[in-house]
Amino acid sequence: MKDILSELEDRRNTARQGGGQKRIDAQHGRGKLTARERIDLLLDDGSFEEFDMFVAHRCVDFGMEKQRPAGDGVVTGWGTVNGRMVYVFSQDFTVFGGSLSETHAQKICKIMDMAMQNGAPVIGINDSGGARIQEGVASLAGYAEVFQRNIMASGVVPQISVVMGPCAGGAVYSPAMTDFIFMVKDSSYMFVTGPDVVKTVTNEVVTAEELGGALTHTKKSSVADGAFENDVVALNEVRRLVDFLPQSNREKPPVRPFFDDADRAEQSLDTLVPENANTPYDMKELIHKIADEGDFFEIQEEYAKNIVTGYIRLEGQTVGVVANQPMVLAGCLDIDSSRKAARFVRFCDAFEIPILTLVDVPGFLPGTSQEFGGVIKHGAKLLFAYGEATVPKVTVITRKAYGGAYDVMASKHLRGDFNYAWPTAEIAVMGAKGAVEIIHRADLGDTDKIAAHTAEYEERFANPFVAAEKGFIDEVIFPHNTRKRVCRAFASLRNKKLTNPWKKHDNIPL
Ligand code: HXC
Repeated sequence: MKDILSELEDRRNTARQGGGQKRIDAQHGRGKLTARERIDLLLDDGSFEEFDMFVAHRCVDFGMEKQRPAGDGVVTGWGTVNGRMVYVFSQDFTVFGGSLSETHAQKICKIMDMAMQNGAPVIGINDSGGARIQEGVASLAGYAEVFQRNIMASGVVPQISVVMGPCAGGAVYSPAMTDFIFMVKDSSYMFVTGPDVVKTVTNEVVTAEELGGALTHTKKSSVADGAFENDVVALNEVRRLVDFLPQSNREKPPVRPFFDDADRAEQSLDTLVPENANTPYDMKELIHKIADEGDFFEIQEEYAKNIVTGYIRLEGQTVGVVANQPMVLAGCLDIDSSRKAARFVRFCDAFEIPILTLVDVPGFLPGTSQEFGGVIKHGAKLLFAYGEATVPKVTVITRKAYGGAYDVMASKHLRGDFNYAWPTAEIAVMGAKGAVEIIHRADLGDTDKIAAHTAEYEERFANPFVAAEKGFIDEVIFPHNTRKRVCRAFASLRNKKLTNPWKKHDNIPL
């Protein structure tokens, strides 16, 4: 018996060594942690339960039958993050470069199936040379099995990808179909075709980092939702995000104890909006002042900064925030911000996370680049996402809400539940200058007349009361009471039930 027990221990120790000490040292030398070290940091201490530690590949080509390391390049299992269950896979670059074989894929599929069945998020840590070259089509089949599960799991359990090494070729499409992608600066990259192929085909000379590094994907392509300095920070931030998310679409988002007063008044908000309507101010200040303990987890912080998206808690409950940012492009909507916010709204709606919308929007960005780029279709994504969302929706207009953008930003007409405005709100088809130039074109040469028309227009429309008279704004509120009003609004909506008509699925403009 003793021999059998020690044999088990030996086998486990060998499996834990992955590709051996030399390759572990090389991994550390690149500033990267090993697959198991990453799992240890991600999960609560001692909570990891491993599956399939002894799975080995079945390939007999290219001498592969002589090297059959236990685990086959991926560590899989489940554990907890602050006591809540998650499933996890972590690719082991020390074993065949973390490449994906048929059996490696089967291990990932097993935990994805269990996550779906048991209702818990899947967190995938990617660090892989891609398809296991020696296995050929069996490896491609393995990828497709994972892809199919990503698709089935979408909207059922949250899926989070953390890219901590190479992720290239078709392999990028599994993270691409998950809800969030996080990357590590200088040690991870994602691209469909690498620098060598790019050079051959397009003659462009580009490094892997420039082509698909963390900064490229958080600032330019928007493929990734966040970039972190190193593995440790990235895994800590993923833990923070998981705390905001529900386990599945069958459960409500988690409620945490909170140490903040729901009635907290913030006098400074009464002067947040500057006297001059064209002077910017930082909308993030409002978000921090509304949130429990000022805690805000931002998604896509570096991309389309004219709109801000992320999670806060109100009275301990998760709320998704979408906010125009007057500091960037005056907070206008454009292609990038519409896409960013639409995806965020759809995630919230899929997982029953209520949405708070903070509005200061002068309209859609004009220009040929926007029109040629299809701003009509992309803007429609956000409109569609808000209109189909059935979760509690609370909107606060702080200043401008002009034109179509007024409608889009969770207006009453898109089934907003509580639509508040600050006294500084201006709800109109457009700003006074533009409006007067159109409706009083004949007076354009006469400065006095134009000034009088502008003053008249501002008097009539540069306020929230016309909309309030019509019931499009439920209440004009004092800025300093915003947290209290918003908390009470969401509290009253906790049992909201709203369903859309039956359909196989909608046809959101893609
Ligand atoms: C088998 C692989 C491998 C792979 C790396 N290795 N990639 N083994 N299949 N795809 C092995 C190496 O042989 C080596 O083994 C070890 O992993 C580490 O690799 P190195 O090259 O020494 O590491 P490094 O210099 O850091 O380079 C990493 C790399 C490079 C950039 C990822 O290995 C590489 O270019 N690999 C091939 C990438 C690729 O073309 N994959 C297929 C893409 S197509 P030893 O024993 O020496 O330690 C694809 C399609 C997916 O993925 C389609 C889905 C639909």
